[in-house]
Amino acid sequence: MKLLVTGGCGFIGSNFVLYMLETHPEVSLVNLDLLTYAGNLENLQDALPYGERHRFVRGDITDRKLVYDLISEKPDVVVNFAAETHVDRSIMDSFAFVNTNVLGTQVLLEACKEFGVERFVQISTDEVYGSLGPEGAFTESHPLAPNSPYAASKAAADLLCRSYHKTYGLDVLVTRCSNNYGPLQFPEKLMPLMITNALQDKELPVYGDGMNVRDWIHVTDHCRAVDLVLRKSRGGEIYNIGSSSEYPNLHVVRYILQRLSKPESLIRFVQDRPGHDRRYAMDASKLRRELGWEPVTTFEEGMNQTISWYIEHEMWWQRIKTGEYLTYYEKWYGNR
Ligand code: NAD
Ligand code: DAU
Repeated sequence: MKLLVTGGCGFIGSNFVLYMLETHPEVSLVNLDLLTYAGNLENLQDALPYGERHRFVRGDITDRKLVYDLISEKPDVVVNFAAETHVDRSIMDSFAFVNTNVLGTQVLLEACKEFGVERFVQISTDEVYGSLGPEGAFTESHPLAPNSPYAASKAAADLLCRSYHKTYGLDVLVTRCSNNYGPLQFPEKLMPLMITNALQDKELPVYGDGMNVRDWIHVTDHCRAVDLVLRKSRGGEIYNIGSSSEYPNLHVVRYILQRLSKPESLIRFVQDRPGHDRRYAMDASKLRRELGWEPVTTFEEGMNQTISWYIEHEMWWQRIKTGEYLTYYEKWYGNR
C-alpha cells in the first residue's frame, strides 16, 4: 500500500509514520511536510532503517504544482495531518491557519479528484464541535460550533471534505480526535510545556481557574484508530476518536509536578485564553462498534511514559526552546 502522508514531521504525523512503517511491512509512504516551526526531521530518526519505504519531501500543501506532481504518482490513500495547530497562535494571527488548514486541504482534495485517488483521510479535531457544559459528550452528529480561529479553519476543511464526497463522490473520511499527548509533542502544548518548564524550574502558566477539561488520548491510540479508519471503514464517514479520559488542566499540571517532585508553588494562574472552550468529551462508540477500536494506554501509563520521554530527550526540547520559540513565549506569556 502506497500512502501520501502530509505533516509527517509534526507530533502526531511522525508518530503515525513510525507506527505504519513498524506495523505494516507492505506500506511505503511519501511524507510531505513544510518543516514549519512545528516540523522536525529529527522526529523521524527511527525511520532511517526503513530505507526507501519512507521518502521525505519538503514542501507546502498549498503548492499546487508540487501536490499535483506527488499525487500523480497515484498513492492509494492520502492522509492529511499537515496543519497549523496551536490555538493560542491562531488567536495571535490567523492567516497561516486559513491558508494551510483550508486552502491546503482544498489543494489536496482537488488533486485527489483530478488523479482519481481512492481514499482521502482528513485528520480533524474535537474542537470543531465547540465547547460542552458539565454533562454529555460530542457525537459525530453534534453541530459544528468552532470557537477559535484554529477550530474554525479545521471546521471549514471538514466541510470542504464533505462537499468533495457529496459532489464528486470522492472517498473522503474525516477523523475527529480529542487532545493527544505522548513523545515528540512540540513544547507549546499543555503537557510538554508543563513538563519541560517544571524540569527547568520555570513557572507553569495555567489559564483562568485551571478547571477547563480536556479528554486525553495517547498518540499511539490515535495512530491505531487512523490506521483502522484508512484500511477498514466505509467512505464518506466521520469518526470521533477519544479514550474517555477527562481531566481538568489543574489535575494534569499537579500530576506532572508530583511525578517530578517539584513544588506546587511553580504554578502561576494567568489571564485566561480568549474564547477558551470549557470542556471537551468525545463519544467514540461509532469507532468502537464499527471498527472494533479500543484505546489501550491508560492515562497514568501514558503520562508516566511521556514524562520519562521528556526527561530522556532533553536535547530534543532544549534545541526547540530557543530563538523563535522564546520570541513567541515572551509575546504570548510576557504580559499575562
Ligand atoms: P504539529 O503542529 O505538531 O505538526 C504539524 C505539521 O504540519 C508540522 O510538521 C508542520 O511542519 C506541518 N505543516 C504545517 N503547515 C504545512 C504546510 N502548509 N504544508 C506542509 N506541511 C505543513 O501538529 P499535530 O499536533 O501533530 O497535529 C497534526 C494534525 O492532527 C493536525 O491536523 C491537527 O489539527 C490534528 N489534531 C491534533 C490534535 C492534538 O491534540 N495535537 C488532536 C486532534 C487533531
Ligand atoms: O482537542 C484537540 C486539540 O487539542 C487539537 O485540535 C489542537 O491542535 C491541540 O493544540 C489541542 O488544543 P488545546 O487548546 O486543547 O490544547 P493546549 O495544549 O493548547 O491546551 C490544553 C488546555 O490547557 C487548554 O484548556 C488550555 C490550557 N493551557 C494551555 C497552555 C498552552 C493552559 O492552561 N496554559 C498553557 O500555557
